[in-house]
This record gives sequence, structure tokens and C-alpha cells, in this order.
Amino acid sequence: MKAGIRIFSGFTLIAGALGAGVLLGAMPPGHPGAGGRLADSTGSRPAPPVDNGLALTPPMGWNSWNHFGCNVSSELIRETADAMVASGMKDAGYRYVVIDDCWQVARTPDGQIVADSTRFPEGMKALADYVHSKGLKFGLYTDAGRRTCQGRPGSYQHEQQDARTYAAWGVDYVKVDWCNSQGLDARTRYAVFRDALANSGRGIVFSICEWGSNQPWVWGPETGNLWRTTGDISDRWESVLSILDRSSQYWVSARPGAWNDPDMLEVGNGGMTNDEYRAHFSLWAIMAAPLMAGNDLREMTADTRRARATRAILTNEEVIAVDQDSLGVQGRLVQNYPPELQVWAKPLADGSTAAVLFNRASVPTPIAVSFRSLGLRTDSATVRDLWSHQDKGTFGRRYSDMVPSHGVVMVKVTPKSER
Ligand code: GLA
Repeated sequence: MKAGIRIFSGFTLIAGALGAGVLLGAMPPGHPGAGGRLADSTGSRPAPPVDNGLALTPPMGWNSWNHFGCNVSSELIRETADAMVASGMKDAGYRYVVIDDCWQVARTPDGQIVADSTRFPEGMKALADYVHSKGLKFGLYTDAGRRTCQGRPGSYQHEQQDARTYAAWGVDYVKVDWCNSQGLDARTRYAVFRDALANSGRGIVFSICEWGSNQPWVWGPETGNLWRTTGDISDRWESVLSILDRSSQYWVSARPGAWNDPDMLEVGNGGMTNDEYRAHFSLWAIMAAPLMAGNDLREMTADTRRARATRAILTNEEVIAVDQDSLGVQGRLVQNYPPELQVWAKPLADGSTAAVLFNRASVPTPIAVSFRSLGLRTDSATVRDLWSHQDKGTFGRRYSDMVPSHGVVMVKVTPKSER
């Protein structure tokens, strides 16, 4: 294909891919927000966003599950809040400190949820106060079914009571899982939870976690602020790829206040290379994903190579700015040279476009982004590299760069105005 030849001219390495190269359709000119205007793959228009005025940009924070599983405690949460400040994560925009499964142990005879008093001796209200005293926000996990995934009490038929309890404790964010929900209807149960939160008297971000099993990208926008699109992430490259390929399909459903959730980050947990973690973070940002760190934040303050690398990734403000852009459009795949070379693009509020040149292959490979595929009207644009933090100059029609194996080059492309 012609565009493919232009894009890859001079690089014999990938000559075999030319015939298969596909330009997947340009971004709409003028960068209109996608939300509500285009049909999704099921042909239905997403419903309007939940009306709680929260999460107008994708939520940023930390969640205990990926690194700590059930090993949660008051001490861990206090130390994590401290580290969120000391590591620069708070300055970079991370706010929510969320305790996932296993904080709860029982209900009282009148149905009141009871926190584990061994692990959380001070109680949840005092812990929330501490997190708030750091200028951060506090989140908890529950389940819309009868028990959580780890067998703790679920919120089924306790939704109003639990929402009132969370509000009294000072909870700002609730993640609601879907284990042990046999015979229940997801759309109905999550709407019950939404209404309970709305009546709680406190603004609480509502995170739906039913793993994409009941098409939440269709009803999620009118129900919650974010909804998981897939099963659980793990700290492996294959997991990142598989979640990317699924979650990206629902890009049309995302808009301010309502986001597809490809699951929490694994950056810093040790199972991938730094190139892979940079790719994971860049792709989550281009997808306007919630950025919930899933590593041990306490390790990030150390003066070690690993801590520095993790900090450089999770606090890259230029990449975070793409994720948090106020236009609120989820980026999508715009160039694909199967099976392994891709360009992903996200229109931004200032008229520029962010692009991720993504190399899924096992050797470093040049990739070029065609400005036409970004929907730019001019042939000339300036390019800034968001990982090297360098202005690369002015380019006509395309920009190409060598991309590491399992890695990305992430750029911001700003069209030069025509005179
Ligand atoms: C499910 C969720 C995870 C986590 C665990 C906790 O698997 O998808 O994100 O909350 O439950 O048990």
C-alpha cells in the first residue's frame, strides 16, 4: 500500500510487512470528541455518563491488590500515603489510596460491615482521616454479590447501608467487584449501587469491576465512573498485550466522567523490562485509562536503579498529561502493520495529537507515524518526544523513529498552522 511504502521506505527489515500494512482510518478532522457520536462495535450508542460530576479525567491513585493481595493493614496504607507524597507521585497527580479485598471480616447482627480489627485497629474513619491529612483521597473495595472474591462479606442487599457507612468514614472511591453474584443481573445491581452512593451524601467515585462480562461499555457510562473491560492483569507482557487488544475496542464509550478500565498498573512490580513498563504506561495513557499504580510505593523513595526507573515511568508528567487531557477521548489504533508494528493516537484539547509508536516484535524496528492517519490537515507538524523530553523539530507528512523491542516511542504532534 502506498502509505505503507512511504512510511517504511528505506527500511528493508520490515519490507515483508508492506503488503499487509493498514491505515485504519484517520482521526476525525478537528478532533471532535468521540463520545456519544459514534456507534460502538455492538451498534448501540453509549448512555450518558453517571451524573455525579466526578472523575472528569481518568482517576489516578494506588490500589493494594496487584502487589499485596490480602496482605493489607493500617500500617501499609499509612506508609503508602506517606510514600505517595515523598516519591513525587502526589505531585504528579496521583490521589486515591484504595484498599482492595480483605479489609472486611464480618457483619454485625444489624448488618453493619466490620473491618478487620487486627489489621486495622484504628478503624477506617481514623485511617481515612490520615490519608486526607496528606491531601490525598481514600478508597475501599467491596463486591455487588454475596461475598467478595476472597470470601469476605459482599454488599448484596446491603448497598444503602454500606454506602452510608462509607460516607461516614470519609470514603472517596469505591471499587465494586462481581464475585459470588450467581443469578444476579449486573446492570441492575450496579445501578442499585450507583443510586445508593448518590444518596449517601458524599461524592464517591464508582469503579465497576465485572471484568467486561456483561458489556459494561454499553451501560457503564450511565452507571459508574469507570468499568473494568477484562479479567485481571498480571505482571507479564502477554497480559498487557491481551488487555490492550480487548479494552481498546470500546474506545467510543469513554468520555469525561466515564472511562474504560483496563485494570491497574503493574509498573515497578518486577515482572517486565523497563521498556515493557514504559510501553504499558504509555498505552494506558493513550487509552485514557485510570492510572492506578499497583506497586509498593514505599520502594520508590529509595536511591536504587529500580526505584529511579519506576519513578521516571510513573511520574512522567508529559505522558500523564496525555492521559489526563480535558478532551477526554480514548485513543485508538490508527496504523497497523500486522502482526507487530502499530501506531496508536489520541486527539488532545489543544488541537495536537499524541501518538504511541508501538513495537510488539522481538527486535528493534523503525516505525513511522503518518500525519494523515492522525487526521491532521496540514503536511507540516512539530514533534515532541514525551519520554526523552525533547523537541524533535518540524516534519512533513510523517515522523519515523527506531522503536525498541516490546517498547514505544511516544510523541506529541502539533500541526503547524497554514499561512
Ligand atoms: C477480582 C478483581 C481484582 C481484585 C480481586 C480481589 O479478581 O478483578 O481486581 O479486586 O478480585 O479479590
